[in-house]
Amino acid sequence: MDNGHPIQVEGLSHHFGRGALRKQILFDINTSIPAGEIVIVTGPSGSGKTTLLTLIGALRSAQEGSVRVLGHELCGARSGKLETVRRQIGFIFQQHNLVASLSAEQNVALALRVNHKLGGGKARTRAREMLEAVGLGERMGHRPEQMSGGQRQRVAIARALVTDPPILLADEPTASLDKQSGREVVDRMQVLARQHGTTILLVTHDNRILDIADRIVHLEDGKLSTFTDAVIADNQRMMQTLADHRKKQPLDKVVAELDEAGFEDMLREISEESSQFLEATALARDRAFRSMLEQGLFAFTLKLGELLDAERASLFLRDGDELVLRVAEDLPDEGEIRIDIGTGIAGAVAGGGEVIRVDDAYADPRFNPDVDRQSGFRTRSILGLPIKNRDGEVFAVAQLLNRRDGQPFAPEDEERFSEFVAPLGVILETLQTLDQSSIRHERTS
Ligand SMILES: Nc1ncnc2c1ncn2[C@@H]1O[C@H](COP(=O)(O)OP(=O)(O)O)[C@@H](O)[C@H]1O
Ligand SMILES: [Mg+2]
Repeated sequence: MDNGHPIQVEGLSHHFGRGALRKQILFDINTSIPAGEIVIVTGPSGSGKTTLLTLIGALRSAQEGSVRVLGHELCGARSGKLETVRRQIGFIFQQHNLVASLSAEQNVALALRVNHKLGGGKARTRAREMLEAVGLGERMGHRPEQMSGGQRQRVAIARALVTDPPILLADEPTASLDKQSGREVVDRMQVLARQHGTTILLVTHDNRILDIADRIVHLEDGKLSTFTDAVIADNQRMMQTLADHRKKQPLDKVVAELDEAGFEDMLREISEESSQFLEATALARDRAFRSMLEQGLFAFTLKLGELLDAERASLFLRDGDELVLRVAEDLPDEGEIRIDIGTGIAGAVAGGGEVIRVDDAYADPRFNPDVDRQSGFRTRSILGLPIKNRDGEVFAVAQLLNRRDGQPFAPEDEERFSEFVAPLGVILETLQTLDQSSIRHERTS
């Protein structure tokens, strides 16, 4: 199906090798990228990111499924067609791939000549404009070896975009750069792409640049998922790890029985864990990471309602003496819904710290029918569950309304509900930690 998007991938699978060595790298990839959108592909090393990029970029031919780029089907395409498509794409690789003997200006102008668009003085003028645009007006005459990594990568951006391609493909463009140069490179890329309506597919495992994306997808073992799905999977893994840890013996006993090598291993494990945590909190100012967690929170809450067959699922966060509605199907676009702790069922759950099951809401004096009146929803039964932090304080309330079969919620529902609420707690606590550390960041910077 052609929806007019510059990049359309359907049922794409890819193998490398032959015979016994034949190995599947990509599995049934589906994605479609509208014009002007910036999509980031994340995923661990070896997951197939570069392979995917080279297939979309017509750098190798697709074997199975469909890859439509700028209206051309690349699966089974002849080399002539691949080349036609390739010429319309700007590429930026991890290594800048600049010609060592040419100056920045000559490297950028070369792209114009190769594509037969412009030659001579006009190419030089365009190249200069482009280098100005990436902030390298002073370095036009420098050769790659006379520039820093960040500057070379900016020349590569100028070269990739000087022909004004409708599509830009970038493979780990910040991998060899320090934090600040990496930031500068992607910021330039984003500004130029926005000006020209360029569609960008960017592969990275650099979490620091995720915020330039309109959409983030995740590739793992050759399979593509949305980032939200990946976060949910990660959270389940995290919960499993935590559960496994709890089953282990008390730490002092473990340590007492360790030999020196074992103790070193353990120290390494602990410091790795804390550096991972620090890395996570360093993401505090990263809007994409936050929004990914928010999406995870949202998806998880709604999933909870679905699994327990409830008509509504919502989540309140504690803010001082009040609860703020954080997740619900019909969250108002503007303004907030706030409830005093101690009023309403959710408030009572927060105040008492206990699960509350209500079979008939309108017969319960704690129930506040105003909310129904505002939303037009008719509440029958309620299951409210407190979510506690490590200090045992309620910091959120999850709430399910109306079992779809018309029955009140049963004790078994309560049990299943509490199982699922644990990962929600993890996401919520991470968000809170991020809030706190971003406040810290703002104070110190
Ligand atoms: N030309 C090739 N021939 C055989 N195997 C390859 C080739 N290119 C990549 N692979 C394998 O495909 C897998 C995915 O590689 P790649 O797409 O480079 O992953 P990523 O970019 O996510 O690190 C790896 O296991 C890699 O060894
Ligand atoms: Mg790669």
